Amino acid sequence: MKTALIAPSLLSANFAHLSDDIHIVQEAGADWLHFDVMDGHFVPNISFGLPVLKDIAACHNMVNDVHIMISNPKEFAKQFVEAGADYLTFHYEACQSDSEVFEIIDIIHKAGGKAGLSVKPETPISVVFPFLYSLDLVLIMSVEPGFGGQTFIADSLAKILRLRNYIDENELKTLIEVDGGINEETSRQCRKMGVDVLVAGSFVFGASDVKKAIEELKV
Ligand code: DX5
Ligand code: ZN
Repeated sequence: MKTALIAPSLLSANFAHLSDDIHIVQEAGADWLHFDVMDGHFVPNISFGLPVLKDIAACHNMVNDVHIMISNPKEFAKQFVEAGADYLTFHYEACQSDSEVFEIIDIIHKAGGKAGLSVKPETPISVVFPFLYSLDLVLIMSVEPGFGGQTFIADSLAKILRLRNYIDENELKTLIEVDGGINEETSRQCRKMGVDVLVAGSFVFGASDVKKAIEELKV
């Protein structure tokens, strides 16, 4: 079966000892570190932002995978890349038009980052097709964005498969990432559909044996 990169979501770490938790997942074999930025407007929750990313991005060796759940991605895209985002993923639903999506992708690339576009569970995956030639990553939300610890929405599997087929048929290199409700069972289902990157928050940071949890997501 296809392997996937593992991106633990910092949202489920203990914020009183972030550095320790980051080094635990790094030592345990995590590939990417996923940052969930929430503004209390696009989603009904507030997490952390630019200053936290800036300090954390410099203190580990994983890829900084930043997911901005904010209403005004165009205004902040450059600053997030400058703060250390290797991949910066924004939401399709936060954009006013297709041309704004292209503009934000361009801002990210010009700042030296890789660009990702995310869709919420209710948004059809076909909306990302016009942008795929410019995108480095598509993030399929498999829960409603805003909180960790929710149950995986099974309809997400069909979205992954449809996108996998489209990317392969058009010989594109865009990565497919899935986020929300990932555990040892849903990770296998997603890998069967051809996902490239698995985000996992509570399953990794809530585990008594983090290394074992990350291994379970890979087998
Ligand atoms: C939700 C976030 C997710 C979340 C995943 O808005 O985007 O990254 O932290 O958490 P789990 O793996 O617990 O569903
Ligand atoms: Zn996320």
